[in-house]
Order: sequence, then C-alpha cells, then structure tokens
Amino acid sequence: MGHAMPSFPRSRMRRTRQLPWLRSLVSEHKVTADDLVWPIFVHGEGEGEHPIASMPGVVRHSLGGAVEAVKAAQDLGIRAVALFPVTDPAKKSPDGREALNENNLVCRALRELSRACPQVGLIADVALDPYTTHGHDGLVQDGRILNDETLVILQKQAVIQAQAGATMVAPSDMMDGRIGAVRDALDEAKLTDVAILSYAAKYASAYYGPFRDAVGSKANLGEGDKRTYQMDPANTDEALREVALDVDEGADAVMVKPGLPYLDIVRRVKDTFHVPTFVYQVSGEYAMIEGAAQRGWIDGDAALLESMISFKRAGADAIFTYGAVRLAKLLRGKA
Ligand code: PBG
Repeated sequence: MGHAMPSFPRSRMRRTRQLPWLRSLVSEHKVTADDLVWPIFVHGEGEGEHPIASMPGVVRHSLGGAVEAVKAAQDLGIRAVALFPVTDPAKKSPDGREALNENNLVCRALRELSRACPQVGLIADVALDPYTTHGHDGLVQDGRILNDETLVILQKQAVIQAQAGATMVAPSDMMDGRIGAVRDALDEAKLTDVAILSYAAKYASAYYGPFRDAVGSKANLGEGDKRTYQMDPANTDEALREVALDVDEGADAVMVKPGLPYLDIVRRVKDTFHVPTFVYQVSGEYAMIEGAAQRGWIDGDAALLESMISFKRAGADAIFTYGAVRLAKLLRGKA
C-alpha cells in the first residue's frame, strides 16, 4: 500500500514543520493575486466614496473613483474586477428596464474602465435585481418569478454589457436556460469571444445581506426571498445538475456561491467536471471577518488569508473577494 509508513518514533509529523524553508517546500497550496477577482460597487451620484456600514473597508466608488481604484488594484497585481451598480431608486421599475439602457451606470463604467485599464478583466453581472422595484433577479407576475420572459431581457442585458466593454458576463440570476440563451445572444451579436461565468450553484443564502445594503436592493426585496430560484442550502446533488446543465449550455467557468459554507460543493464540482471553478466569498462572509476583526476578536488579515487557502484546498481556481486588494498587498508584504 502506498500509505505504508513507519510509525512513531521513526515517523514524526512535526519534523517538516520545524523550519520555515521546509514548511514552504511541503506546502501544497498557494494563493496569489492571479487567483483573485475584486468585486466593486459603483454609484452615479457625483464624486466621492460612500462607505457601506455592513462592509467595513468597502466603499461605493464614483465612476472616476472606480477607474482610479482599478488602476491601483492593477498595480498590485489584481487582474480582474466584477462590477455592481448602485442604481438610483428613481430608475428602478417593476421590469428593470434600466438594465437595458446602454448608458446606464454599469455600461458607462465598463466603457471608462475598458479604455483606462484595457488589460484588466471586466466581469459584468447579468441579473435584474439592481434595477427592479421588487428587488428580484427576474420579472414578477402575481408573486411568481417568470423564467422564460426574463431570459429575453437577460440576453439583451448581456449583449449591451459586452458591447460596452465586458469581456466576461456573469449571469447570477439562476433562471433556467439562461446560459444557453445568453450564449446564443452573444454569438448572434458576433461577440463570440466574450466568456460566460455562470453563477451555477448559487444558494438562497443569508450571507448576501450586506451586498443588498451596498446596492440598495434590500429595501426593495423587503420580506421577500429568492428561494424559488436560488438553491436550497440543504442540497448538493442539485448543484451538480445545475453545473452540468450550464456547462452543456456553454458556460466557460462556473461559480459556487457563497464560499466558506459551501466548500464541499466546490470540491464536488471541481472533481466531477474539471472545469474552471470559481467561488464567491460573499458580503456576509467578508462582514463576519471584518466585524470580528474591528472588535479585536480575530486577526482579520490572517483570517482572510486562511479563508483563501481554504478555497484553494477545496479546488477553486479563482476567488471573488472584497478583500482582493488587501490580500494583494498582504501577499506582497506591503500591508
Ligand atoms: C444578485 C447578486 C447577489 C450577489 C451577487 N449578485 C445577491 C443576491 O442574489 O441577492 C451577492 C454577493 C454578495 O453577497 O457579496 N444578482
């Protein structure tokens, strides 16, 4: 058997832990800035940063501020950002039609960023929740989230975002069939090189709370929840079916979301499909680390780094984290 090993005292597990150089040689996993995607919030209310109370250290950037922030992130080695617009409540509607405005905030940000930072990957979220008065990711009729009617809008949204400069679009809405629909629409618009990151296994999670504060959709959603389209946290096989469908429909990479509470899903997805597997350390996960760190209850930097290694260990190829820039500095020894 390959595992035949002499036992104590000839085997001493502590031997390889004694010296830093030896620890680094036997280390199996590493996280680098290359693995990180930085999600950023953009507001359209003039200049200046707006803090987000439930996400210490994270701000909503102005358009100009976002460009400066992404340039600085690029200098630290961050290679991709995911954009989330904070939509003016006056522009929200039941059908989320602002999503299809070619001059909406996210499209303007994509245009400016693609001009200013052409080497940075720009990932645009495809879903209606920043734009709807009810806060849902799709159209609603009589309290039901309409699937097929929503697909038509998502197709257009993905195309205008790609035309504005998104090099990867990321449907996060969990409607059935959206990956194939978006792929068809992109191909028809001759955007064959625009990649699709599918939020394939996205759970109906309590950990999205601070994000909904950040984009201002919490009040819109109110007492509502997304359990008729996002996954039940109790399920694992269903995640594999979701991923299988999305890969079949043309997803270039798949996402598991949230992150730390779903490492088992990351591992199963990676082992089963061998496709690029991303994980999202969501707002609530970030808030837990930062909230505790602010109170002096844990070492925030160490906890953030440890969470990154957990994702790599579980098989993730890339990680969305609000701590991306902090991590890039830490990894360079600059923090
Ligand atoms: C919505 C969307 C959500 C997040 C990313 N895209 C929230 C939701 O589904 O309500 C959450 C990200 C986070 O919590 O950090 N399409």
